[in-house]
Amino acid sequence: MNTRGAPVNVETRAKLYEGKAKIVYATNDPRLIVQYFKDDATAFNALKRGTIVGKGVVNNRVSAAMFERLERAKVPTHYLGALSDREMLCRRLDIIKIETIVRNVVAGSLAKRTGLDEGTPIRQPIVELYYKSDPLGDPMINDDHVRMMKLATPAELTWMRRMALRINRILRPHMWKRGLILVDFKLEFGRAGGRRYLGDEISPDTCRLWDRQTGEKLDKDRFRRDLGGVEEAYQEVYRRLVGTSA
Ligand code: TMP
Ligand code: ASP
Repeated sequence: MNTRGAPVNVETRAKLYEGKAKIVYATNDPRLIVQYFKDDATAFNALKRGTIVGKGVVNNRVSAAMFERLERAKVPTHYLGALSDREMLCRRLDIIKIETIVRNVVAGSLAKRTGLDEGTPIRQPIVELYYKSDPLGDPMINDDHVRMMKLATPAELTWMRRMALRINRILRPHMWKRGLILVDFKLEFGRAGGRRYLGDEISPDTCRLWDRQTGEKLDKDRFRRDLGGVEEAYQEVYRRLVGTSA
């Protein structure tokens, strides 16, 4: 298996799964999958649908850059290399059906739930758990629900919380240096070959990113809330986190 660069001898095979923003393909190696990033955008459990031109390229390249940063800090991720502008080679994981959210600043559903103003700083980062279920609309759950539903073992849950905070400690200063406030983000973890890995993506779809100077929203909230300038915001995040424009 080749890592990072253009992996050789990997052939894409049958479509395994099509999600709202990505398609997952099997490969000729049962341990590997390819994530294909689409421009399709949904919000509010797919009640709102649209297209963000160039989003797939941005999310693929931004995710690759963030996974590479995390791997350098010894965080185990499913990422094995970018195959093209929209395709990423990954380890095949048995995904744990929990969405782990880390929050540094009050926004979104936390503002709604608490009545606190969006933008209120959070002294100690918050970790939240949601049950990954489209039919149920990803309800919030706690450790007791995870145990009852056997979504993860207690050891896995401890590891996930610790890893989520460690990822926050790595990505927050990384983004700050590039002019972005990491307000909150969503992570998914999984198992492969008896080990645990970070999976999915890290992109403006799954993070709230605010401009450090102006507070301007540079993430999917521009689409969710009809703020305009959606494509431009994604391109700006690409420029800051990957380098040249997509
Ligand atoms: P929330 O404030 O709506 O709960 O969102 C928290 C973070 O999770 C935010 O960065 C966006 C991300 N997120 C997803 O990645 N997928 C989702 O389905 C939702 C609702 C949020
Ligand atoms: N992607 C999710 C959906 O379709 C939600 C979101 O990101 O707001 O509903």
